[in-house]
Amino acid sequence: MVNSRKIVITSPFKGEPKITDFKIETEELPPLQDGQMLCEAEYISVDPYQRAYSQRHKVGATMLGSQVSRIVESRSPDYPVGRHVVGYWGWCDRTVVNPAAKSGEILPPMLVQNYGDLPLSLSLGVLGMPGATAYFGLLDICDPKPGETVVVSGAAGAVGSIVGQIARIKGCKVIGIAGSDVKVKWLKEELGFDHAFNYKTVNVEKALKEAAPNGIDVYFDNVGGEQSSAVIANMRHRGRISVCGCISSYNESKVPLAPVIQRYMVGKELKMEGFFVGRWLDSWDQAFKEMAQWIKEGKLKYKETVTEGFQNTPKAFIGMLRGENLGKAVVKV
Ligand SMILES: NC(=O)c1ccc[n+]([C@@H]2O[C@H](COP(=O)([O-])OP(=O)(O)OC[C@H]3O[C@@H](n4cnc5c(N)ncnc54)[C@H](OP(=O)(O)O)[C@@H]3O)[C@@H](O)[C@H]2O)c1
Repeated sequence: MVNSRKIVITSPFKGEPKITDFKIETEELPPLQDGQMLCEAEYISVDPYQRAYSQRHKVGATMLGSQVSRIVESRSPDYPVGRHVVGYWGWCDRTVVNPAAKSGEILPPMLVQNYGDLPLSLSLGVLGMPGATAYFGLLDICDPKPGETVVVSGAAGAVGSIVGQIARIKGCKVIGIAGSDVKVKWLKEELGFDHAFNYKTVNVEKALKEAAPNGIDVYFDNVGGEQSSAVIANMRHRGRISVCGCISSYNESKVPLAPVIQRYMVGKELKMEGFFVGRWLDSWDQAFKEMAQWIKEGKLKYKETVTEGFQNTPKAFIGMLRGENLGKAVVKV
């Protein structure tokens, strides 16, 4: 008999989720059928979209999310025992799944490739969905050129910290916006950002004018709201904006208002495009190979904020939404 622990939602989130909105339940898993595998979670990812996907927050449902797991039993020839796989099976520590079945998961199961000595948890970060988001969201949508000025908000997080470093690799001047002085120091002193500032303590518009007196060519938007309106007002003619997310509004029940941007969009002939990273799924592995190489060459650095213990997943999730993470927030099961 194999049991699984799962974290279920006990009450609908109002504003910031609370620890008491979750509880742990145990269930007995069924024996494997042909085509199925049994996976044991090693790391669970906590990500902003888990707060944003409110249509999936049902009382009694297992909280949605991804994990990297080891295959411990298998009746699927393509998913052998001992391999690791990233799956969107929610906050549970053991799962029986049929990897070939289309079951409404956010992304299909993905076998983890071999990147030598690099830690397994990176398959939830720089060599996983957030890394692919940074890579394609910046390069495909904004096509940054050497010498251009790139601004990234949410700059010290999983996606933002990689965006800024890729822009540096491509020869751009990089400005990061983040929510604490510790984050700002890390961006400037360790990741090589040209400028960074704390949006909680400075006037964003003034800081941008100082850091980019000639304007901004590319904006990678992780946060939305007033911060983004301030960046967009300071863009150069034919600037490009990649709209990745709007975390400043995820805990809000009413859509917040921000200064109108259309006059800048028109006057400066800006291009703005939203995206979902699944668009480039067939090319993820190629991007991970390139980024793994950059990591080995010391050009791309990563940081993880690791919370220990499956039971602490809600705490890690709430902490990530509050900005307690530097780099990628993960839970070591
Ligand atoms: N389009 C896609 O396919 C896709 C894929 C992945 C992620 N995303 C989006 O990318 C963004 C970043 O995701 P991530 O995984 O890298 O998360 P993350 O940046 O590692 O963590 C979330 C960060 O958001 C910041 N934040 C929280 N409240 C904020 C507010 N009111 N205003 C500004 N910043 C706030 C916090 O940093 P501070 O301390 O700096 O405030 C926090 O650390 C999110 O919007 C997410 O939804 C989109």
